[in-house]
Amino acid sequence: MPEISDTVVAITGASSGIGEATATLLAERGAKVVLGARRTERLEALAARIVAAGGEVAYQQTDVTRRRDLNDLVALACQRFGQLDVLVNNAGVMPISPLDELRVEDWEAMIDINIKGVLYGIAAALPVFREQGFGHFINTASTAAVRVTPNQSVYAGTKLAVRAISEGLRQEAGDNLRVTIISPGMTSTAFADSITDPTVRAELEMRRDAIAMPPDAIARAIAFAIEQPADIDVGEIVVRPTAQN
Ligand SMILES: NC(=O)c1ccc[n+]([C@@H]2O[C@H](COP(=O)([O-])OP(=O)(O)OC[C@H]3O[C@@H](n4cnc5c(N)ncnc54)[C@H](OP(=O)(O)O)[C@@H]3O)[C@@H](O)[C@H]2O)c1
Repeated sequence: MPEISDTVVAITGASSGIGEATATLLAERGAKVVLGARRTERLEALAARIVAAGGEVAYQQTDVTRRRDLNDLVALACQRFGQLDVLVNNAGVMPISPLDELRVEDWEAMIDINIKGVLYGIAAALPVFREQGFGHFINTASTAAVRVTPNQSVYAGTKLAVRAISEGLRQEAGDNLRVTIISPGMTSTAFADSITDPTVRAELEMRRDAIAMPPDAIARAIAFAIEQPADIDVGEIVVRPTAQN
């Protein structure tokens, strides 16, 4: 079974929540992690914790709405560690609201970050993976893409797009590349911070605080997908707290 140890894993949205938990767990297990997000002070602090624990890490300010930033993140992994084994396209936002409110800027942010950000990650890493002859995309969708609920139409649409793009990519990938969809349920992170509708935000925060699972649950699912033998592709993992309907 391949070791996680010494694999080079780039993670977008590594400055908090699921991305931060994933970087921490994989670094503990010996991966060389390459962190991207916009808030560099948080990346710097996380990198310092990883180094203090004996891990190997690099980080770079990355806004996934800028294609060039993804190219630079992938290049950083290759320059610093010689290759890229895994790209975790995790960055995402969830400013949900009823469609009637016409919060069109929120819709655009979700499309730009959740869909185009993943596509830019694919565009950056796919040529590198082809050249190497190996590589693994792990794309973060959501249970919102499994069961669509009111107020989440656009968010669910973006995550359904991630699932569709990932499944198409998996079928095109051939024998050497792996593609995994991770679909988290309610997870205890800062995701509600992006919600601009105060009522929806309060409701979701209350539900999150009642039932959410720790982000480490998703980090472990990601580690499971990575540690499978190179010819085993975990297609999708859906992880929910038991209390989620
Ligand atoms: N928490 C849940 O219940 C849940 C459920 C299903 C799916 N998810 C998905 O899980 C992923 C991680 O979310 P989370 O729950 O961990 O929330 P979070 O704590 O708010 O983390 C979101 C991360 O995305 C980054 N990000 C946002 N916009 C970005 C941009 N333009 N460029 C680069 N990075 C950006 C943020 O970093 P910066 O602000 O520093 O850039 C942050 O690191 C998302 O794709 C989310 O949709 C979460």
